Amino acid sequence: MRAARVGIDYEALVQEDRVHGSVYTDPAIYEEEMEKIFHRGWVYVGHTSEIPHPGDFRLRQIGRQSVIMVRDSQGQVQLLLNRCTHRANAVCQMERGNVTVFRCAYHGWTFALDGDLVGVTYADRYPSSFRKEEYGLRKVPRIGVYRGFVFGSLSPVGITLDEHLGQPVKEQIDLFVDLSPVGELDVTAGVHKYGYRANWKFQVENSMDGYHPNFTHQTFFANIQRRTGVKLTDLFNSRSVGLTRDLGNGHAMLDFRPYNRAKGTGLRVATMPTPWGQAYWEAMVNRYGKERAQEILTAGGTHMLIFPNLVLLGVQIRVIRPIRVDETEVFLYPVLLQGVPPEVNAARLRAHEAFYGPAGGGATDDLEMFERNQIGLSAQLDPWLLLARGLGQEKRDADGTLVGQITDEVTQRAIWRQWKKVMTQDVAVRRRARHGAAQQVG
Ligand SMILES: [Fe+2]
Repeated sequence: MRAARVGIDYEALVQEDRVHGSVYTDPAIYEEEMEKIFHRGWVYVGHTSEIPHPGDFRLRQIGRQSVIMVRDSQGQVQLLLNRCTHRANAVCQMERGNVTVFRCAYHGWTFALDGDLVGVTYADRYPSSFRKEEYGLRKVPRIGVYRGFVFGSLSPVGITLDEHLGQPVKEQIDLFVDLSPVGELDVTAGVHKYGYRANWKFQVENSMDGYHPNFTHQTFFANIQRRTGVKLTDLFNSRSVGLTRDLGNGHAMLDFRPYNRAKGTGLRVATMPTPWGQAYWEAMVNRYGKERAQEILTAGGTHMLIFPNLVLLGVQIRVIRPIRVDETEVFLYPVLLQGVPPEVNAARLRAHEAFYGPAGGGATDDLEMFERNQIGLSAQLDPWLLLARGLGQEKRDADGTLVGQITDEVTQRAIWRQWKKVMTQDVAVRRRARHGAAQQVG
């Protein structure tokens, strides 16, 4: 532990209505985020539908650590650390694929899909005390799955995934998944990737920002209105019936449901007078009953952040990967639904591309804002960022969530409250866990 880390006063840097600019620029704070947020808490890794068959794998990352998400020969999802137990070579180089074993290219050690060490080259030169059983690929100590969403925690101790998510988040995940009349997603359509030269938390905050769209995405909305007559700017002004919600534990959402209910927006696709629209609607009613089907389609998915790195946005899974204090990568996975007419999935892909794709009209606007933010932060006479919008006007809903108007900064405050909580937690827990790791993880 470096001495410099001890001195950061997070109470002073994150206040109820403002945060200090150094939370986006200080490399020491970034280091501590990696340790406390990413190497200790629950982090999203991938979706089970990405690896349907034994041997299917995806190379992922938890914080700085390279992790293989793989389906083993028993059909179980494993999260294996991508590090040969011999001399630490990465055993997996490919982003995705199907394999029967992982073989380290350096000295030829071979590992089964569940991590077991199954082959040691020239094993006769090891001492008699050497036991293969002790040198399987290390597993991420805790793995949790909800509706196919796979999360890992590098800490062997801590709250469960269930406690981390909480009921309101699980309900939103259900709305996202149950757009499929068989209750199953298909996350194999591919991925859009982008990077930007600014702090990772700009993308986290922006994903839940209902104040910016009418300005940042003015051109996109104007085009939509010209082409379709739909005036999306109605959703994102201070008189909108749309809401912001603090779901607890740093999770937050923009709640479009009141707006969709008023406009009939979410239902539009299913009630379209097309054979496929009708077929989709009927499949939904058959599975869920009319009332619930209506509720699911009106929600149209969700628009939610699951702290710290997962965002579910209507037709998309977004994963945020910090690289350095001022560099970030973002992965966008358009999500298909199982059990629907192909036209439904085609419409989802087109919707994804229109806003988020490389030639889309929206995502690039946000990236520009993040980099301008990082430039702005270099001017430091007044180092604070203001997050006071709607402060004191939130209401507590029956489900315990804290609710504000859609342009309020309820969501940003929710994120920072959790951030401060995690960053001020005692590091002793982590130190103990790390020193005991060899015994506990193997
Ligand atoms: Fe945006």
